[in-house]
Amino acid sequence: MNRHTKADILRAGIAAPSADNSQPWQFAWCGDDLDLRIDAGRSGRVSDTRYVLSDLAAGACLENMIIHARSLGYVADLQTFPRHDDELWVARVRWRRDPECDQPEPLAGAIEQRHTDRRFPWAGPITTDTQTRLNAQARQIPGQRLYWPQTPRERKAALSVIRQAETLRFRSPTLHAELFSSIRFPVGWHTACEEGLAPAALAVEPPLRPAFQAMRHPAVMTMLNRLGAASVLGWRSAWLPIRLSPGLCLLVIPSTARSDVLAGGRALQRVWLAATLDGLSVQPYAAAGVLSLGFVSIEPAFQGPLTRLGPALSDLCASGHGLVFLRLGYARSVPRCRSGRRTLASFGVFP
Ligand SMILES: Cc1cc2nc3c(=O)[nH]c(=O)nc-3n(C[C@H](O)[C@H](O)[C@H](O)COP(=O)(O)O)c2cc1C
Repeated sequence: MNRHTKADILRAGIAAPSADNSQPWQFAWCGDDLDLRIDAGRSGRVSDTRYVLSDLAAGACLENMIIHARSLGYVADLQTFPRHDDELWVARVRWRRDPECDQPEPLAGAIEQRHTDRRFPWAGPITTDTQTRLNAQARQIPGQRLYWPQTPRERKAALSVIRQAETLRFRSPTLHAELFSSIRFPVGWHTACEEGLAPAALAVEPPLRPAFQAMRHPAVMTMLNRLGAASVLGWRSAWLPIRLSPGLCLLVIPSTARSDVLAGGRALQRVWLAATLDGLSVQPYAAAGVLSLGFVSIEPAFQGPLTRLGPALSDLCASGHGLVFLRLGYARSVPRCRSGRRTLASFGVFP
């Protein structure tokens, strides 16, 4: 593999999504073998102490690289979590040139176009054909599946659990600090940034921007919460956009073992790329799934609502663990501001 091909594969990897645009990936080449590690400095925050969010991002990054390499004629032999005593070492990928592997890889064409869209409302419907295509992409990764709340009762239950989780992110001072620390207010409301969340990517309406910006101060958030701000924010950031979107599905993983979470990230990425090819906009909602796993440590006052999330979510999906909701729909245009990426050289050791 020449330098150009290696750089191309890594570029596809870093186009993957990551929670709060944290980009928690590190790469090292050892000949033609590639090691993917979680970046200790960009992971492990309060919602990521078990690396659930980082493993999802690592899975998405791996899948992008595998798909792109296949379009260049390489297949991947994947060894996940190679050493049990090294929790940050996610995978070693051995690339093999495969003369048989010359079929076009349609998902590769969506890698650079895929993005998060937080705007609404979006048009529908999302046909059963489209749902079947997205289901098939999730199932390409063994054990992974999508659940689509269909009946009004199921949709209501899903909306309720998402709203409760999103509300908690503004009520709990710990979660509030985590959320607002990833927003790069200094770049202003019109430009992108290469790491973290640019305010412009958040789809906050202009009249609400000063209030939203003031909420980064814990004292302001606490005061506004006395007036019910967290509930309004949960309604505005989750309930309303989802209610006004034609599609909602949940990525369900078979267990919370790290290998299954990583595989979940691979499935998430395949679904998202296929949705992009179909012209769909996507916004993930991860708080409900991650908080419901029960390891996120927040203030005792919020333990009650936190512990209710798990049972509510498992009522929804008969078996397995619902991890990431995806809101879907057809937007008329692409968002003006997309999240940036750091330079490739900042991701690690290269030949
Ligand atoms: C595991 C994971 C969880 C995410 N959770 C959320 C979320 O709860 N809400 C949201 O708006 N975006 C969420 N995102 C989207 C990221 O913020 C987004 O991927 C990142 O900012 C990079 O932007 P891009 O997807 O446009 O490349 C999540 C992404 C991943 C991979």
